[in-house]
Amino acid sequence: MATYRAVVVSKEGKGPASRSIVKYSDPSELPFHDDSADVLVQVSHSALNYKDGLVLTGAPGVAKKFPIVPGIDFAGKVLQSRSAQFSAGQSVVLTGHYAGQWMDGGYCDVVWAKSSWLVALPEFLTEREAMIIGTAGFTAMQCVMHLEKYGGLARGEKGPVLVTGAAGGVGSVAVAILSHLGYQVHASTGRVEEQEAYLKKLGAKKVIGRLAKSKPLNKEVYVGVVACVGGHGLATALASVQYGCAVASCGLAADSKLPATVMPFILRGVKLLGIDSVQAPMEERKAVWEALRTSLPAAVLNDLATVYSLDDLVGNLGERIIKGQTRGRGIVDMALGRADQVSVEEKKKVDQLEDKLNAYKMSAPAVLTSVGVSAKDSSPMPHVKVNISSMLLVSNL
Ligand SMILES: NC(=O)c1ccc[n+]([C@@H]2O[C@H](COP(=O)([O-])OP(=O)(O)OC[C@H]3O[C@@H](n4cnc5c(N)ncnc54)[C@H](OP(=O)(O)O)[C@@H]3O)[C@@H](O)[C@H]2O)c1
Repeated sequence: MATYRAVVVSKEGKGPASRSIVKYSDPSELPFHDDSADVLVQVSHSALNYKDGLVLTGAPGVAKKFPIVPGIDFAGKVLQSRSAQFSAGQSVVLTGHYAGQWMDGGYCDVVWAKSSWLVALPEFLTEREAMIIGTAGFTAMQCVMHLEKYGGLARGEKGPVLVTGAAGGVGSVAVAILSHLGYQVHASTGRVEEQEAYLKKLGAKKVIGRLAKSKPLNKEVYVGVVACVGGHGLATALASVQYGCAVASCGLAADSKLPATVMPFILRGVKLLGIDSVQAPMEERKAVWEALRTSLPAAVLNDLATVYSLDDLVGNLGERIIKGQTRGRGIVDMALGRADQVSVEEKKKVDQLEDKLNAYKMSAPAVLTSVGVSAKDSSPMPHVKVNISSMLLVSNL
């Protein structure tokens, strides 16, 4: 009988949270099985988001109930489906509903999910790439789309677009997307020295520190803002955008308060756009994933990602993301650390090779030949002791 692994966070009343890895042989043994969850998914990758940090550390308000398996987003393959929408073997993605909050999330090998929360994996992404994007990347794309649709931001604009909390997950992807779309990105981070090279590699033209408290109206600088932080950072952003431009507010890192005045709204026609990925309607979800196809080059994805295992999650990753000590997108690879799997370093090498092939596949008109390759005979990486069951060889004619 198969043995699966899950990270479970437990908490008694207001006591401290404890994290452990539990083994199970049937997903109904997980804490939050819900009858309306009609698709059984073999999770290949999940991710680390700010909200996951709150659940991992047992913060009130995000998880409805403990014990719970955290992981607000995941990608994997359908094992069984009671929904006509999905069938076994199909790759699916779940971002930003209530997995990992109301019911069990992605920090496990196999979980029941609601079909109404799943989307088919966009065909231009691997499951791993979909999780590098994840809820944070989805939200970053939403911010940019809202700025363009409702905030007057237009391609070809020469003025700077600001991203706050730039070295975090949403911030990093926003920097990468905006830069790729041709905007002049100013990245605001509390870690200028540490993260300047990273943010410039993602395309930022200028890296600045966190925004200080300001007057109600500042110099008009920015033609748009992706605001991952609240508090004074958001108030100062509002005070610093150009006439008629907008701030997309998606995050509360730093503070959920907004200590601002109405001056930017009534004297400059500034717009404050609220961004919510959790309840985004399905039509918008599909449009966001579609926009990501052309807005975020596959080659950038690896620069955004740090790979973790389930074992890492029971360490102090939750505390670290809440303190703003992680960078870009943390993804969780279920294969890492499993007894029957390869070592972390070996798996990363295989992933990198697959990413390169995928990026090449996306960028070149090519003939695709599916070839089974086994490490025993013709592995392209003989030092990697893993069976690569199926690999795409790409050849240009
Ligand atoms: N609206 C939605 O649907 C939605 C979806 C996803 C996320 N979010 C929210 O968006 C925010 C970012 O999420 P994430 O997953 O990207 O988290 P993350 O990776 O932890 O990034 C947050 C970033 O905010 C900055 N930060 C942290 N503490 C700060 C402080 N005290 N003062 C100022 N800046 C601080 C840090 O960036 P620097 O080191 O660069 O300063 C940190 O990396 C969170 O508040 C999250 O809840 C909302």
